[in-house]
Amino acid sequence: MERRVLTLDEHTCRRRTSAKWRAFDPDVLPLWVAEMDVMTAPAVAEELLRVVADADLGYHVPATYLEAVARWHERWGALVDPGRMALVTDAMSGVKGALIAMTEPGDPVYITVPVYPPFHAVVPAAGRRTVTVPLSPEGRFDVPALERAFAEAPGRGAVLLSNPHNPTGSVPTREELSALARAAAAHGVAVISDEVHAPLVLPGAEFTPITAVPEATGAVSVISPAKGWNLAGLKAAAVVGGPTAAAAVRRVPSDLSWSASHVAIRAHVAAMDHGQDWLADLIADLAANRALLGRLLEEHLPGMTWRPGESTYLAWLDCRGLDLGDDPADHFHRVGRVALTAGSPFGEGHGFARLNFAASPSVVTEAVHRMRDSLS
Ligand SMILES: Cc1ncc(COP(=O)(O)O)c(C=O)c1O
Repeated sequence: MERRVLTLDEHTCRRRTSAKWRAFDPDVLPLWVAEMDVMTAPAVAEELLRVVADADLGYHVPATYLEAVARWHERWGALVDPGRMALVTDAMSGVKGALIAMTEPGDPVYITVPVYPPFHAVVPAAGRRTVTVPLSPEGRFDVPALERAFAEAPGRGAVLLSNPHNPTGSVPTREELSALARAAAAHGVAVISDEVHAPLVLPGAEFTPITAVPEATGAVSVISPAKGWNLAGLKAAAVVGGPTAAAAVRRVPSDLSWSASHVAIRAHVAAMDHGQDWLADLIADLAANRALLGRLLEEHLPGMTWRPGESTYLAWLDCRGLDLGDDPADHFHRVGRVALTAGSPFGEGHGFARLNFAASPSVVTEAVHRMRDSLS
């Protein structure tokens, strides 16, 4: 049987009212925020219809979610215990809760830049101090550089990982995570791993949850199917503790669980339990788009450099060779009528822009054509 292509055409997407297709003028092609132009997974759509049919619109039961998160982890060979988990509103509130639970006010929090801009904001919002450590030139965690940074304030703080990494798409190997966890343990630094992109690892790489790394028993992860199944509008996520992290998870502020939504939980549980076929088709679409984007950039924008990521649908484009200044996204928006995400807020991102290729092949192609034409 031929596999389904899940991406939706531009006309269909323009009917949407969420941020991606509404933030810019109608003549702009939006390839920015991390929403995907895809159909809803049938398992999720059917569950939402059942919710409405049964008028099941009340308060949630957290254990329903946490047990599904535990079942979901089995596919990565990770045994996680609902007793060491906390339901939270969404991934970023889980990150904030974990920072509060695992560090003290004023502690250093190490983030590996360039990284998802809200990482830069959540640390001061939690009353902690941001320390940026650049990724390696390959866009991966630089463990020796992190260890040097840890040594400056030993016995304090936490390292906040994006695993897989937004925006470079790198997926740390088990060995890299082990080395990082050993370095953190040696200096008394806690490990918090945002694993919201875990379902979006593309062929050729393998995801390792931090909670499955023996050297990281005290670590916590934050996970949700919201990114993988494109459900950001349905709020729920979990903080998941490693074998010795039960006390830390209990310190995650409990008010974060009240704001998760029962409808979100029903949709997320359906995705985790029954959304795997859809996810396999999605991964095939994203891998095809990653290859398409590589061909298009090579042909039309040879002055731009891109290292295709091992995961996600985000392309971290090095535009420094195009002479467009610090903010190439501004140029492509104004002149090309293509909306990308500006690189600078990620840290170490001057001259970079992030492109979201979770779109139909024709939208991706048209966007690159417009970017090329904007240079002439
Ligand atoms: C690394 C990372 N964490 C968190 C989020 C946001 O997740 P949520 O909307 O569940 O807070 C994103 C969104 O793109 C992300 O890339």
